[in-house]
Amino acid sequence: MHTDPTSLRLRFLAILGALPLAACGGERFESEACISVADPTAECPTVAEAAADLVGVGCGTAIVSVDGEGVFTGADEDTGFAGDRCCYPVTRKEVNNGCVVGRPYYEGGQLVMAPAVRTSGWAGGRRPSVAGLSAEERRVLADAWTQDALIEHASVAAFARFALELMAFGAPAELVDAAFAAGRDEVRHARLTFALAEAYAGAPVAPAAFPFGGAIPLERDLAALAAATAREGCIGETVVALLAAEALAATEDPAAREVLAVIAADETRHAELAWKAVRWMIEAGDERVRAAVAAVFEDVAQNGVTPPDVTFGAPDGVLAAHGRIRPEAMRSMVDRALAEVVAPCGLAATRKAA
Ligand SMILES: [Fe+2]
Ligand SMILES: [Fe+2]
Repeated sequence: MHTDPTSLRLRFLAILGALPLAACGGERFESEACISVADPTAECPTVAEAAADLVGVGCGTAIVSVDGEGVFTGADEDTGFAGDRCCYPVTRKEVNNGCVVGRPYYEGGQLVMAPAVRTSGWAGGRRPSVAGLSAEERRVLADAWTQDALIEHASVAAFARFALELMAFGAPAELVDAAFAAGRDEVRHARLTFALAEAYAGAPVAPAAFPFGGAIPLERDLAALAAATAREGCIGETVVALLAAEALAATEDPAAREVLAVIAADETRHAELAWKAVRWMIEAGDERVRAAVAAVFEDVAQNGVTPPDVTFGAPDGVLAAHGRIRPEAMRSMVDRALAEVVAPCGLAATRKAA
């Protein structure tokens, strides 16, 4: 399977029948944000220094301000993170920015993920070589892969709920089956990425119990489900598949290469499922469903998407060799994904029947 913009455009356009063979928010809330620090005896960076690092738009939320002094948390405490960190009280604002972190799990408009803990039980896969890496480089790589692993873990919950939502709207068996299969793929991605995180951390890393609320809310409005599927699947997973393929091209470590190859292939299939599902929802629903999906693609055409940023703090070359995409490669691939795949496929998916 090829994972490049042209191949993906052709695959998705074929799914959409366009070839012979494509918000809201704004609530502010208090939260916490952390930065890695190299020297456990040093004082935490000042509020102004931390703000320079932390304030900005992230995935699903933006950090608006850093509101107090940092508190040091050591790597040997039971934080689940491999490195020493300073954590600050911050104010966040929800932003619906088509963030590309794989298939996210939202409850009440907020991104939900389990925290990491220092136990074993999830890691499963080949270990990368850590020879020649400094303690700081290992810390940065462990943090970055832990973050990815937690996102993969949350995607398991996202697909489990998506399968139930498809059933609730009477979707065909093929879509429900593909949603459950995608959930199992995400278990595999989580296991593979926790294995990388553990190897770089030199310690066990696993997700804590997933913080579901008391009940798991299913979307009851087909137009809202179609819009979320377009944003999180058609756009998010298309971009993630292409970013994984782009990261793979520069990755030298054999274990990280294996993981990225699996993720690029699987995320392409997940994006395909999203385009199929959106197509089915538009056909099964009314004009409101089509318009909601069209609005998502218009919004992304105007505002773009925000790629994740979890790889600062180590030389680009070291990060790239261990599977972390370089920022400039990420930006140019996101631009190509939107222009060459998402825009034409989005138009094909939402064109009005003649
Ligand atoms: Fe995944
Ligand atoms: Fe996925």
